[in-house]
Amino acid sequence: MTERKQFRAIRGTRDILPPDSSLWNWFERTSRDVFESFNFREIRTPIFEDTSLFARSVGEETDIVSKEMYTFPASMSLVEQVQAAQNAGPNPAKREFGKLEHELFESTPDSQLLSLRPEATASVVRAYIEHGMHALPGNQKLYYVGPMFRRERPQKGRYRQFYQIGAEVLGPSDAPGIDAEVIEMLLVLFNRVGLTRTTLYVNSIGCKECRPKYVELLREELRKVNDRLGADSQRRIETNPLRVLDSKLPEEQEIIATLPRISDHLCDACREHFAKLKDELNLRGIVYQENWRLVRGLDYYTRTTFEVTAEGLGSQNAVCGGGRYDGLVELLGGPPTKGIGFAIGTDRAILSIQEGGNLPKLPGLDVFVARMGVTSYPTAVKIARKLRDAGFAVELPAEEMKFKKSLGLADKLGARYALIIGEDEVASGTFTLKRLADSEQKKLTESELLIHLESERKGETLGRYA
Ligand code: HAM
Repeated sequence: MTERKQFRAIRGTRDILPPDSSLWNWFERTSRDVFESFNFREIRTPIFEDTSLFARSVGEETDIVSKEMYTFPASMSLVEQVQAAQNAGPNPAKREFGKLEHELFESTPDSQLLSLRPEATASVVRAYIEHGMHALPGNQKLYYVGPMFRRERPQKGRYRQFYQIGAEVLGPSDAPGIDAEVIEMLLVLFNRVGLTRTTLYVNSIGCKECRPKYVELLREELRKVNDRLGADSQRRIETNPLRVLDSKLPEEQEIIATLPRISDHLCDACREHFAKLKDELNLRGIVYQENWRLVRGLDYYTRTTFEVTAEGLGSQNAVCGGGRYDGLVELLGGPPTKGIGFAIGTDRAILSIQEGGNLPKLPGLDVFVARMGVTSYPTAVKIARKLRDAGFAVELPAEEMKFKKSLGLADKLGARYALIIGEDEVASGTFTLKRLADSEQKKLTESELLIHLESERKGETLGRYA
């Protein structure tokens, strides 16, 4: 007998069911509308790429690349080697297999490995280079919507498959006005979706001229307090001292507060860029807080970094992160290019909107067709088609029901109206439209029915989004 297994969504992944999926669609649709009003256009890139693309851009030493990527062999021959090893001998222990797999992965060049994308900036830059987009006029303003994958410890607001809506500007200019406009676009969106209990943090982490000197100074200072730091920070002193500033450990906070700040060590060009960015934000009436510890967890950033936190999310309260990445295109083999962008964590943005309780009115079921008697069926099918063509959401039950049951179901489904079609209605060429909220009934011909529902739609949210 085969065992009966109850399948469940994999840990860290989840199903988004109605009615939440309507909220998601609305959020994504609003993002597209706002981004397109700023002249951004959508780019769709594959969900997996060469592992080395992420290793090189996000950084080998980052948590994302060093421990969170879902990586698998690119070629069947490697898969077969692993499988052969697994099947060899009398059922080798799982631990042995794990070791073998690990060894194979370690000895396989990154170029033969693929990873599910942990983020999309690297993919956008790869596509920009691959398609020679630098030759197109002006800046390339691109946005994307889709799932990302990181093997993190799941908790509220943190998933292994999560979703981002992101935007990137790639081109010849690094004018601070671009940074400010990208941030403005983000805030216009947050305002439109009612995500207003948020804080914007900005920082500049310098460029390849000034940052290395600051990092060395930071490292020296950190070495002096090495003994008072936790294991993660101690390791980072050597691998990536900037990340120590990101630490949330309570016992490290006092020490971090005394460390040298990058704002005192920016080169003239970076200092000027940051000052101009702040002018540009002020010009747009954007409220922000400077946060010298905002270094971000990806290696490609230069100069501007920013993050938005929202209420109602607990510890995972960053709803958006972004920054400038001049030099990334060159690092990946493209021509000199400047870049800036951000990604919103859709899961968290939606959670925060839900916790805020300020939910939009979403389209629901407009008309439930309650038909009685065999002769009414062809009329019901035809009118359902007409109403749907006119943009209304219509439920037409395939099986006939008793009148009372029919209205009961219409109510449970949250329909605004029941359209009653009985033999009398068919004979007289009229329909009875019952508003379920107050049971008001009207007898209407087909054209009157359409006009009536249209006028209701104008005053209300009746009807699907076009
Ligand atoms: P990030 O800060 O790694 O940046 O991610 C951006 C946002 O994605 C976070 O602020 C958070 O809302 C969401 N997020 C990240 N990990 C998870 C997770 N495990 N579960 C749920 N949400 C998550 C980037 O990804 C950069 N590519 C952003 C960027 C674009 N920078 C420049 N351009």
